[in-house]
Amino acid sequence: MTVRRLLFVCLGNICRSPLVEAVARKRLAEARLDVTVASCGTGGWHAGEGADPRMIAAARVAGHDLSEHRARQLHARDFEDYDLLLAMDRSNLREVQGLAATPVQAGQAMLFLEWTGSAPPLEFPDPWHGDAAGFAAAVELAERGVAGLVERLRNSEG
Ligand code: 4NP
Repeated sequence: MTVRRLLFVCLGNICRSPLVEAVARKRLAEARLDVTVASCGTGGWHAGEGADPRMIAAARVAGHDLSEHRARQLHARDFEDYDLLLAMDRSNLREVQGLAATPVQAGQAMLFLEWTGSAPPLEFPDPWHGDAAGFAAAVELAERGVAGLVERLRNSEG
């Protein structure tokens, strides 16, 4: 499967998936890989809101800008608009697969850190309830996952 459009999915779309989207956008551009990235949440509570200020701050320290992000909820058309829907944790993955209309669509949904070939943990911990250290750790984990993503996409180019 040619992967050209990636959608990262978490619960609220204000912490993990916007972070991974920003990191992926930057690292894919650096690698000159022509891949579109976006993010959304399985829940709609934060739709229209910006990213969590704690996430914005931790991402900024690492050189990633989340200031323009606006949260949105996953919808059924995302299975047509994106090649892969990469979920942050198994609960997100179940929600995504629950919205799939066909087994093929369900197969488009994977666990982000699994698809990227990362070392365990394969679930991306939600920093939302934690402290600043948790948000800094999320940035590190996003960088690791995205490094695996870039590697995988690079290897599938040729
Ligand atoms: P995210 O974090 O899924 O990484 O964006 C969360 C944000 C908000 C909530 C839960 C997780 N919430 O319950 O509102």
